Amino acid sequence: MAFDRQFLDELIARNDIVDVVSNYVSLQPRGGSLWGCCPFHSEKTPSFHVLPDKQLCYCFGCKKGGGVINFIMEEENLSFPDAVRFLARRVNMPVPEEEHSDESRLRSRILSLNRDAARFYYDQLYSPKGAPVLEYMKNRKITRRNATNFGLGASADEWDGLLTAMRKKGYGDGELLASGLAIRGKNGGLYDKFRKRLIFPIIDVRGDVLGFGGRIISKDDPGAKYMNTPETIVYSKRRVLYGLNLAKKSKRSNIILVEGNIDVVMLHQAGFDNACASMGTALTTEQLQLLSRYTKEIVLCYDNDDAGKVATQKALTLLNNTDFQVKVLELPKRLVDGEYIKQDADDFIKFQGKDAFEHLLSGSESGMDFRMAQLKSKFDLKSDEGRIGFAEAAAGLLSTVPNAVEREIYTVRASEAAGITPDAMKLEVERARKRARYKEKREQERRDLNPAASAQPRERSIRYTDLRSALAEEGVLRLLTLDDSLFGENPPIREEDFSSPLLGRFFTALRAQLRESGQVNIPALAEFFTSEEISHLIGILQKPESLKNGAQALKDYCNIILDEAHKRAAVNEDPLMAAMEKNKYKGNGGKQTWKKNS
Ligand code: UTP
Ligand code: MN
Repeated sequence: MAFDRQFLDELIARNDIVDVVSNYVSLQPRGGSLWGCCPFHSEKTPSFHVLPDKQLCYCFGCKKGGGVINFIMEEENLSFPDAVRFLARRVNMPVPEEEHSDESRLRSRILSLNRDAARFYYDQLYSPKGAPVLEYMKNRKITRRNATNFGLGASADEWDGLLTAMRKKGYGDGELLASGLAIRGKNGGLYDKFRKRLIFPIIDVRGDVLGFGGRIISKDDPGAKYMNTPETIVYSKRRVLYGLNLAKKSKRSNIILVEGNIDVVMLHQAGFDNACASMGTALTTEQLQLLSRYTKEIVLCYDNDDAGKVATQKALTLLNNTDFQVKVLELPKRLVDGEYIKQDADDFIKFQGKDAFEHLLSGSESGMDFRMAQLKSKFDLKSDEGRIGFAEAAAGLLSTVPNAVEREIYTVRASEAAGITPDAMKLEVERARKRARYKEKREQERRDLNPAASAQPRERSIRYTDLRSALAEEGVLRLLTLDDSLFGENPPIREEDFSSPLLGRFFTALRAQLRESGQVNIPALAEFFTSEEISHLIGILQKPESLKNGAQALKDYCNIILDEAHKRAAVNEDPLMAAMEKNKYKGNGGKQTWKKNS
């Protein structure tokens, strides 16, 4: 979708990058700009940099960056148009060329009604009318902070609390009915669907409130245990996963699927912020499609009763035809008074704790057990040499396990297999960890000292084929953003001369911006370039470049670029050279032999 240029410029201007980023990262001023811990990768010392005057951000650690739209695309995991809508909503700007059919108008009215209703339920939870629900929430051990994270709310024990409030806000009966929040009674009047319940807003990955789930707060309350919004113009249960709006931001690599709303809420509270639920219904292909945008690995963690097993089987059948890696996290049953009873994720966390859950999650068959067994088979554990060899190799493997609990458990097991004391094994593992840290530090130092190796973009799809030319092309882009007057009316090089198509496209795009408005506006490039590409550009522009001898530097860069372009042209025109060039990459029998990713 193409947005109007003027609209985008205003959107970027009104969403100041410092304001937006501050909602996610705590920033500290240092040397004219702001620094914080990068939200895109885990770190303890800040390498995430926000430049207020340029309206850009950039992480020197993971090399991601961009303007405010890129930031939201990355942080909220949204496509470009969705990130634009997200930012428009943030500053109350209407999005221009959204259609204005009757249907889309009703849709947006209902989304706004749902948002107001969620706000109403939320406020009510902490008002006198919500006291019984708050009490129930406390009994379920849900913290206030986490309740706010999920926007939990309360519907009071009355027939028209929400109705009255929403009518006051100007919503009509037609809209209230269409949202599923109101029901028409036999006498023709409307009444609230949700009464005396703990309310779970169902929020999609864009942040829109699509509907609600509501749970009774006492066994004796009337109606089903859970009540959900029926299918409406905005809500289709096949297409949402409860909690995915939060889980999509998790730094964990997989997504855990559970059955229930409370399971999701409690897992997040215990630090498993990658959990979401299909709310008691079977997993659908639409939901899998949604998940595929955020993860390659799914962990099924359904209830350990018969219904849960059936649901797991069904999900596995569906997942069979997909690219997902799948793990099944089997929760053990719990022994109570000599009887084994069913547990769901919420019960397990409550009775066994989060470390035990972490252990189940990471130590599943496919992971550590499997690799340890393989290692054991390589050594003769009856001989001293074999046991020493195994202990050393196992220590190396164990040193890569980041989770301390898991490391401890497997260290003890490995010590048993090696026939040494757990303490001796622990010492070995600690030594291996120290060695690994030292090695990592050395490698980083080497990378820092060897710019040629680190000059290659990290993203494979934008690797340079001609490093000499590409580094000069980078210099040209820097000079262009520093002082475009060096380039004059007829610049000495054109896009076609660039060896890197991406750098060439940047050259053209930046020149177009300079021609139109007299200045470079990198945040606005988000429309035409991917986030990786923009990150790469910002990385290039962060490298030092002096304008002192700008004209000479430009000349030198251009000479290199034209020289390399000339060589490439010669290769293309001369069939013999072309054949030789091609054979550079051919091994025996025409098999490709160039190294991957090196
Ligand atoms: P469960 O009955 O397993 O409940 O339903 P739960 O999640 O463990 O809830 P608590 O711990 O008793 O509060 C799993 C999910 O199925 C949906 C809900 O989304 C629920 O979280 N469900 C269940 C319904 O939609 N309607 C129902 O009547 C029951
Ligand atoms: Mn439960």
